[in-house]
Amino acid sequence: MIEVRNASLVYDDHGRQVFACHDLTLELKDGEFLGILGPSGSGKSSLLYLMCGLKTPTSGEVAYRGRTLSSMSEDERAELRLRQFGFVFQYPYLLGYLSALENVLVGTPTNGEAKKSGISSPWTNGWATEPAARELLTGLGLGDKLHRMPFELSGGEKQRVCIARALLGGREVVFADEPTANLDHVNGVAVVETLVANRGSGSLVMVTHDPTMLEKADRVVTISDGRLAASL
Ligand SMILES: Nc1ncnc2c1ncn2[C@@H]1O[C@H](COP(=O)(O)OP(=O)(O)OP(=O)(O)O)[C@@H](O)[C@H]1O
Ligand SMILES: [Mg+2]
Repeated sequence: MIEVRNASLVYDDHGRQVFACHDLTLELKDGEFLGILGPSGSGKSSLLYLMCGLKTPTSGEVAYRGRTLSSMSEDERAELRLRQFGFVFQYPYLLGYLSALENVLVGTPTNGEAKKSGISSPWTNGWATEPAARELLTGLGLGDKLHRMPFELSGGEKQRVCIARALLGGREVVFADEPTANLDHVNGVAVVETLVANRGSGSLVMVTHDPTMLEKADRVVTISDGRLAASL
């Protein structure tokens, strides 16, 4: 579904070239849980940004369903990130002035724009989103905290709100960049299990430096100094 072909990503560090990704080739299949493992600074986030179109490779290419991301307009790529992809980051970014439920609904299309994503997921509710958001948060154990503000939630609870936001509507791919890094082991495992169990037929790409978080992965690739080292 997503093909990375001989992609390199070079940053300009005050005139010095830094190869964050070096000639990477990799494919993400429909429905697959792909783990990307590697130490700090190895290029994991950079690879994730290439796969989702947030960054454009310096050389090589990335294609989504046969279409090169760099050939799409900025609007088309934004549409893809908003509708087909979901994101979970290390820090649970929530708007401090909106409740848990409102944070999940932010950015989702209104009923007037209703559109099916084509992904089978319990949360694909024709984008008639509020009931689906409530159901999803309830399924994530936050049914009694829908109206809490972010400062009234623990770190793990905030991360579950972010997961609900990433899953709502049914996404083709959820990209998670170190979603467990700020959590203790038990909560970290719970977050991964939540992502795995609730992604429906969508794919999951998860970046981490902790191999114990990838025990449920279908495939794990290891990245080191911007190069793919092994496929487990
Ligand atoms: N904007 C930038 N400008 C220059 N160099 C950068 C930039 N972003 C990242 N890098 C460098 O690219 C390399 C890969 O960074 P990346 O963020 O992809 O690593 P990572 O594996 O995600 O690390 P971590 O586990 O710490 O998040 C690092 O050497 C980093 O310093
Ligand atoms: Mg990173």
